[in-house]
Amino acid sequence: MAESIQELIQEADAECRRLSIPMLGPHKAAYLCELIREEQPKVVVEVGTAIGYSGLWIARTLRELGQGKLITLEQDDARADQAMRYFRRGGVEHIITLLRGDARTRIAEIDNTIDFLFLDGGFENYHPCLLACREKLRDGAMLVADNAGIGAAEMADYLALVRRSGESRTEWFETDLEWNPRDAMEITVLRM
Ligand SMILES: C[S@@+](CC[C@H](N)C(=O)[O-])C[C@H]1O[C@@H](n2cnc3c(N)ncnc32)[C@H](O)[C@@H]1O
Repeated sequence: MAESIQELIQEADAECRRLSIPMLGPHKAAYLCELIREEQPKVVVEVGTAIGYSGLWIARTLRELGQGKLITLEQDDARADQAMRYFRRGGVEHIITLLRGDARTRIAEIDNTIDFLFLDGGFENYHPCLLACREKLRDGAMLVADNAGIGAAEMADYLALVRRSGESRTEWFETDLEWNPRDAMEITVLRM
């Protein structure tokens, strides 16, 4: 029987803090899920699965919406294995595809139209990932880039591109993450 996603989120949260695995944290995750609820995407793509903390939040939201699937990309096999265990335990593995390897190339293999792109896997990878999947993004797709505060310099190419390619805003958050107490997400509605 599937376990409670809320309990799995709490377990993954504690595991990330214990092992110093960076993750979104509850404040930004809740906001991300509000955006997903508003957008009602059929396909969400996440770059940077880690051990599945944010994936659990996203999958729970898609399950509540009764539609949509998550394609999530991770290059670290041990983290990807752990994420899959969480997804199976939560009974959401059937709405999740995990692609292993370098997201900068693997993201180009996605053959669905992408409605929602969440970037959280190496600041300098945001720009190449966006370019690699640009053709698949639908007009009006929402892009959410984490760490747009602390990572602004490393993702300057990405920020410049989205700010001239759509309606883009920088949303700041106070978090309970000791390694990152104040940071931003760049939220863009893409216009072709
Ligand atoms: C900040 S963590 C992701 C946290 C996750 N989104 C969460 O909130 O639970 C970043 C992850 O991106 C992965 N990553 C970094 N560069 C990558 C790449 N080029 N391709 C795929 N994954 C990558 C790292 O291995 C790491 O697990």
